[in-house]
Amino acid sequence: MRRKLVIGNWKMHGSNLLVQELLGSLKVGLDEAGNVEVGVCPTTLHLAAASETLIGSQIKLGAQNANAHTSGAFTGEVAAEMLPEYGVSYCLVGHSERRELFLEDDTQVAEKFASLQKAGLTPVLCVGESLDQREQESTEQVILAQVEAVLDKVGVQAFVNAVIAYEPIWAIGTGMTATPAQAQAVHELIRQHVAARDVGVAKNLRIIYGGSVKSSNAAELFGQADIDGGLVGGASLSAEEFIVICKSADSK
Ligand code: 13P
Repeated sequence: MRRKLVIGNWKMHGSNLLVQELLGSLKVGLDEAGNVEVGVCPTTLHLAAASETLIGSQIKLGAQNANAHTSGAFTGEVAAEMLPEYGVSYCLVGHSERRELFLEDDTQVAEKFASLQKAGLTPVLCVGESLDQREQESTEQVILAQVEAVLDKVGVQAFVNAVIAYEPIWAIGTGMTATPAQAQAVHELIRQHVAARDVGVAKNLRIIYGGSVKSSNAAELFGQADIDGGLVGGASLSAEEFIVICKSADSK
């Protein structure tokens, strides 16, 4: 049985005050979140404060990005292996905003994925198609190519300790959520693709959905057979919304 996972991606939002207030509320509100694993990904700058605020809490910490090199002359970057010192458990990789705005390609995504695992972190591999690609009926091809690029580099066993997040680009920050059936179809496709390499790994692999997840649509999405939770952007900045979303993953 796969344990449900809900991760909040704060993107480039936050302050020390937000860390204290938001995480303070989540600590109290998610005390009884049941059997749901909850994580938050603040900015790199706020990881230290978040780590301290989360002492004594079940809520896990994630980073939004890391460099694949272990150290060196890479001004402005943070290495994957610097993150565990701050109590970080996961790190996003391949988010569409990184692919589109920072031109990260499949090769870089695969390298980052490998370096995160080497540092003892759980990569959350994000994949997703654009609206154009969906309209041209190439969703399947795009998603499988993104998954395959990483599978090829790291091998299927690496997915024993990884999460995949399906985030259709057209649903991110638009309020246009994929329907539960649309999301389920892609999640099933990904699971079958991994199963072709290893049935056991595919069965235990958590595939979470992202793209305008809100308190009003979370329960139905998380109720789908292959949707194991969510990667939440905007709604994760509101304690009230995020708590409802996390609780709606319980027993789904
Ligand atoms: P929204 O929930 O704001 O649509 O963002 C989704 C996302 O990109 C999470 O990584």
